[in-house]
Amino acid sequence: MTKLKVLSGMQPSGQLTLGNYIGALRNYVKLQHTHECYFMVVDMHAVTVPQEPAALKEQSESVAALYLAAGIDPKAATVFLQSTVPAHAELGWLMTTLTYMGELERMTQFKDKSAGKESVGAGLFTYPSLMAADIMLYNADLVPVGDDQKQHLELTRDLAQRFNGRYGDTFTIPKGYIPEVGARIMSLDDASKKMSKSNPNAGSYIALLDPPDVIRKKISRAVTDSGREVKYDPANKPEVSNLISIYSAVTDKSVADIEAMYDGQGYGPFKKELAEAVVALIEPLQQSYRDIRESGELHRILKEGQQKASELAERTLRDVKSKMGFVVL
Ligand code: AMP
Ligand code: TRP
Repeated sequence: MTKLKVLSGMQPSGQLTLGNYIGALRNYVKLQHTHECYFMVVDMHAVTVPQEPAALKEQSESVAALYLAAGIDPKAATVFLQSTVPAHAELGWLMTTLTYMGELERMTQFKDKSAGKESVGAGLFTYPSLMAADIMLYNADLVPVGDDQKQHLELTRDLAQRFNGRYGDTFTIPKGYIPEVGARIMSLDDASKKMSKSNPNAGSYIALLDPPDVIRKKISRAVTDSGREVKYDPANKPEVSNLISIYSAVTDKSVADIEAMYDGQGYGPFKKELAEAVVALIEPLQQSYRDIRESGELHRILKEGQQKASELAERTLRDVKSKMGFVVL
């Protein structure tokens, strides 16, 4: 039986966070041996907001190395940089021509990222059409992402259907692969906002490369309500509930078990043990990250990924162009 295809990506627009890991990256690792997987660093998406060139380069390599450090095996999955496969930009353009202004205007990520800004790049607006192209180039069946990407995925499905309707059956209609617990990890300083690597307050997120003592400090300072009960109640205790979700995702313990473990004990022991559980998860990952960066193997792995991804992407693009009426030579 042929394996189902999986594609996903993360922006190198800052340091990956525990939210990225719990919401998406650990599912990449989980799916790699049972599916045909493509995992990319979406550097072309990152430049939809200004990036400093040296930082973009460093972060792109860092994200790729973190994929591997988290357990992605480049022999099992194809790991590459989006910008090294030009078919993304090309199909991205074609998808932009298929997308309606109204669809893009409804995207909440665009509304959030453009709110209050004086000048907003056009690429930030057309960003979801490029994301649709990313997924469609590989005819991915499953797309492991966090909750915030649901709307973009819905648009991808609509565009795939629209193309198929106009030009004949071509694209698979992809589905999201979204975790039950941890699809939306919130900021440590404000549980109404999602944990994000682009938050200017570093205390609001746990970066996968934060030293263990910084992680301990950030968790001990995480905002909690004035009560003392470790109880999962997102409406009334959003901060504690967020910490419980992190605990559950990191240890695989159920929410009910965690509540029972800390019954009557207050937040102190809960936060301490949560910090240790996060450190236990992250320390080996950091060691493996350092090994990968020092090995000098990263560019070779990304080059191989580029070649494998290009083959499939180019094939899809030729088919699409021919169906749309371009002269294919
Ligand atoms: P980004 O950092 O926006 O490139 O996101 C990369 C992946 O991580 C996407 O699949 C997101 O949905 C996921 N993700 C980002 N932030 C979070 C979060 N706070 N909680 C859960 N998943 C997240
Ligand atoms: N938009 C996604 C995010 O911000 C990143 C992304 C770009 C992506 N292309 C993708 C995710 C294709 C999954 C599949 O997180």
